[in-house]
Amino acid sequence: MSQRVSGYERKPNEAYHTPHWVTRTLLPYIPEGVRVIWEPAAGTGQIAEVLREAGYRVITTDLERDFLDCIPLKCDAIITNPPYNLAVPFILRALTLVPFVVMLLRVDFDSAKTRAPLFDDRRFAGKIILRKRIKWFPGDSGPSDNHAWFVWDTRHVGPPNIAYAYPTKDGQDDRSAKASRRSKSREPAVGVRVRQQRLRRGVAQRRNADNDTMQEPRTRS
Ligand SMILES: C[S@@+](CC[C@H](N)C(=O)[O-])C[C@H]1O[C@@H](n2cnc3c(N)ncnc32)[C@H](O)[C@@H]1O
Repeated sequence: MSQRVSGYERKPNEAYHTPHWVTRTLLPYIPEGVRVIWEPAAGTGQIAEVLREAGYRVITTDLERDFLDCIPLKCDAIITNPPYNLAVPFILRALTLVPFVVMLLRVDFDSAKTRAPLFDDRRFAGKIILRKRIKWFPGDSGPSDNHAWFVWDTRHVGPPNIAYAYPTKDGQDDRSAKASRRSKSREPAVGVRVRQQRLRRGVAQRRNADNDTMQEPRTRS
């Protein structure tokens, strides 16, 4: 394994597998027209599972197809939680390949001066800040990092936007348990809740992709 492929590893093979609830918070922000998504650092496929469940065709690859040095696959969007030490090259490569790119990163990833060009880029549409910390491992009782989905979209116009994502109360990862709890409590899924909150606040307007791709979350019907 070359240094560039593996890089500095915080955990073996960057084994930070994204809990399902995290990906569910992104679903309302994936634009119409996206059908095929490439998850190029898929690990055990946690992100892909949720995207597939939402109806997308998802191609998953990992180290067997070094994202930074491979023949690109045909897709409409790239969505991943990249290896942290390779996040910048992952973003740069993804931006050369597709119009819609989303990366799960630490919430202050955009603060570093050296990364400014990524966020001054007019395609940077904004970030969706998770209002719950991610528990990466069982027994990880007090996670200290906050995360956000960072979104680049060629159709974005104007300054980047900030959105907040609120997971269901427990933020747990057991979908069947959650579904059963939800049906008992009649609590809607995250994407639906985001939309309902916005509707309640009276800010839901007809989605205008030319104006603002981050303002109006959508759900797939
Ligand atoms: C932080 S994990 C995320 C796994 C998955 N995306 C998720 O969120 O559950 C990063 C993944 O990137 C993979 N990886 C590291 N370098 C890579 C490269 N150059 N090309 C493709 N995948 C790579 C690792 O094997 C690991 O599975």
